[in-house]
Amino acid sequence: KLDIPTTIVVFGASGDLAKKKTFPALFHLFEQNLLPKRISIVGYARTQMSPEEFHKRVISHFKNDSKKESVDGFLNLCRYVSGKYDVADDFKRLREEIENQEAAANIDKSGERIHVYYMALPPSVFVDVATQVKNNVYDSSCINRLVIEKPFGHDLESSRNLSEDIGALFNESEVFRIDHYLGKEMVKNIITLRFANVFYEAVWNRHYIDNIQITFKEPFGTEGRGGYFDEFGIIRDVMQNHLLQVLSVVAMNQPKSLGAEDVRDRKTEVLQRILPIQLEDTLLGQYVKSVDGSKPGYKDDDTVPKDSITPTFAQCVLHVDNDRWRGVPWIIKAGKALDEAKMLIRIQYKDMPNSLFPNLARNELVIQVSPKESMYIKTIVKEPGLSTNLAMSELDLTYKTRYHDVKIPDAYATLILDVLNGDHSNFVRSDELDEAWRIFTPLLHKIESERIKPLPYEYGSRGPEGTYQFVEDRVGYKRTGLEYHWEAPE
Ligand code: BG6
Repeated sequence: KLDIPTTIVVFGASGDLAKKKTFPALFHLFEQNLLPKRISIVGYARTQMSPEEFHKRVISHFKNDSKKESVDGFLNLCRYVSGKYDVADDFKRLREEIENQEAAANIDKSGERIHVYYMALPPSVFVDVATQVKNNVYDSSCINRLVIEKPFGHDLESSRNLSEDIGALFNESEVFRIDHYLGKEMVKNIITLRFANVFYEAVWNRHYIDNIQITFKEPFGTEGRGGYFDEFGIIRDVMQNHLLQVLSVVAMNQPKSLGAEDVRDRKTEVLQRILPIQLEDTLLGQYVKSVDGSKPGYKDDDTVPKDSITPTFAQCVLHVDNDRWRGVPWIIKAGKALDEAKMLIRIQYKDMPNSLFPNLARNELVIQVSPKESMYIKTIVKEPGLSTNLAMSELDLTYKTRYHDVKIPDAYATLILDVLNGDHSNFVRSDELDEAWRIFTPLLHKIESERIKPLPYEYGSRGPEGTYQFVEDRVGYKRTGLEYHWEAPE
């Protein structure tokens, strides 16, 4: 597929997302020889810039040790067009630029060609740009692909409106909705783990699993993006998309094949079996100053209203009502300004039936998505040596120690590669998106209309008081009872 001549247009090319994620990911693919052999990359944004200024921005987030030769080679592929997001003539100039590039590279217009439109843009201009692209740039003799980034609306209704607007311009098969968590190594690995290993899949159900926690913790607050964040809050920012996507991959039944539609059918089925989340099943928090006063509270940010009730922390219990999962509580938790950076999936198994040993602790499978990709199974062993006591140990697969020479790619690199290959399996389909909003919209509306106050928690703490108790009380999560602390081996 890398033989098909390709043009990638990056809209919002001077913005943060393009600089931090899109261009570094494209460069990573270029370094690995994974970009199509005939490719041209065109940045488009409002800012007037010389080609040199544009190139400076493109490389601003490349790793310092990038080879100069590779950087020059990559920049050779990158052009820039400045234009407004709603002016037809500007988009016509963009089309000319694409055509000129293709002509200069002697690309046969009657052969296969791919045009990718990557929207690294704020949602307020999504539809304008998509409309202009369709009217003035879209070439129906090519394979066209539109890549969009969240937020996809802010509730069920607005998301449906957006889907309708985009759907009137592009076919679903042309649209790639990015949820970058689906591009993370350990998330991509879940399908393999579950459906290639009999000993996981055999016990992956309510008969053996007691509860599942999916946790996202960040050690920093919303400094610098408080304005954006305040309109969304942690539920829309992380839960409705990233955590629910991870949940659907952990929960889904085996797809008929690894084809994108089969995988997405199964994920959608899971979401269809989840009832809207209730306020009673939710704990909300908002961070305040750190204990030592060195870190600001959420509302200390000038761009955040002083009476903001936007949650920066949330924890919810939900249930997947199907044969595999009936009765198993899922706890999803996400918070900013907490004590550590961590994203993990923790599956706690049921108590051992008819155990020979009293008060046995429970097994757990922990899949750590970040920061150190790893998975371990908490396993009880006889304390080594002459003792016959029990000890909690683990079967451990830490990627760094097991796979020394592998560089785990950034999620964006793998997702852009999927776009180039036309593989939709790691992108969100519109019906999945609709279900995800259905699950969260009543809760979001209730929080906002009744102005439900989040509980305060200190910057750098483990979250609002009661967070851990909530999990034990509400879902019966059992602490191990045995001294245990997992550390990634060096
Ligand atoms: C983004 C959210 O989608 O994901 C951010 O908007 C969050 O608030 C980020 O920090 C987390 O992504 P990662 O890849 O750093 O875990």
